Amino acid sequence: HIAEVENFQTNSKDEIEAFRIKYLGKKGILNEFFGAFKDVPNEEKKEFGQVVNQLKNAAQDKVVRLKEHLENNQEEQGVYGDLSRPGEPVEIGARHPISIVKNQIIEIFSNIGFNVSEGPEMEDDWHNFTALNLPEYHPARDMQDTFFIQTNPDILLRTHTSSVQVRYMEENKPPIRTISPGRVFRNEAISARSHCIFHQVEGLYIDKDVSFADLKQTLLYFTRQLFGKSKIRLRPSYFPFTEPSAEVDIYWGLETETDYRITKGTGWLEIMGCGMVDPNVLKNCKIDPKEYSGFAFGMGIERIAMLLYQIGDIRMFYENDLRFLEQFKSEF
Ligand code: PHE
Repeated sequence: HIAEVENFQTNSKDEIEAFRIKYLGKKGILNEFFGAFKDVPNEEKKEFGQVVNQLKNAAQDKVVRLKEHLENNQEEQGVYGDLSRPGEPVEIGARHPISIVKNQIIEIFSNIGFNVSEGPEMEDDWHNFTALNLPEYHPARDMQDTFFIQTNPDILLRTHTSSVQVRYMEENKPPIRTISPGRVFRNEAISARSHCIFHQVEGLYIDKDVSFADLKQTLLYFTRQLFGKSKIRLRPSYFPFTEPSAEVDIYWGLETETDYRITKGTGWLEIMGCGMVDPNVLKNCKIDPKEYSGFAFGMGIERIAMLLYQIGDIRMFYENDLRFLEQFKSEF
C-alpha cells in the first residue's frame, strides 16, 4: 500500500478525490486498518501501528501535494490563482508632454468661453490657402513648405490649423469663439529646432466690435495663466489672413544662464503669431466684415512645451523613449 500511495500521480481533481476517499474516507483502507487494530496480537500492535500511521501520513501528504500541483497548473493556465497572494505593482503610464500642454491650453481658453474645433489633416487648397487670402501664385504660400498629396485639384497635408477655422466659419454664425488644436505638416529639414510634423493651437474670435485691445487682453490673460509671466509685447509682422498682424513675445526674464541663452540675451521670447482677421477671409467664409470683426492667433505646442519643460531638442517628442516620457506626470 505504501508503495502504491507514493507512486500515485494524477492531474485530475476527480482522481485525487477518489484517491482520498479510497485511503482516507470513512470506509477507506486506513479506517479498515484502524478497525482491525484491536484484533492484532499484542506483540505485533507496536509495529502494526507504526506502519498504519506511516501509510496515513503518506496518503495525507500525497493529497496535499497533488492539490497544490493542480492549483499551480491552473494558475499558469489562467484558470484561477491564489487570490490572497499580494498583487504585483503596475507601472502607471504618463501622458505625452504634447497632450499635457495641449490640454492646459484648452483649459485656459475654455475658461473664457472658447470651444474646441477640429478638422481633417488632409486638406484641399481652399481651406488651407485660398480662403485664407492666399490665392494661387501668392508669394506667401512659400512661407509654409507644403506636402502635396495630389495636384490639380490640390490635396495637401494642412500646414496650419487655420484651415479648421475656415471650416468653422463656414458652418457657424458669429459670435464665434473657438480654438483648433491639431497636427500640422511642413516640408522642412528636421533639426533640434524644427520638425516636419508638429502641433498647433490656433484661436479665432469673431463678434460685433471686436478690437485689437480685445486681442491683446486675451493673449495677456493666456500667457499669465500658462507661464505665470505678466509682460508681453506685440511686434508688427505679416500674415496673409490677418491685418494688422503681430508676433507675440513674452518677457521671460534674465535670471539664469539658461534664460540668457534661450532669449539670446534680450529676456524676450517669441511664442505666437496673431492679428485681426482680414476682411477678405471673413467674406470668403460668408461673414459680413461690415457687421463683424475678429482676431486670430496661432502657436506651436512643441515650442511652448520646450519652454515650459526646458526641452532642448524637438525630436525628443517623437522618439517615444520611455526615459523621456515617464518624466511627465500631470493632472492634465
Ligand atoms: N497660421 C499661422 C501659422 O501657421 C499662425 C497664425 C494664426 C498667425 C492666426 C496669425 C493668426 O504660423
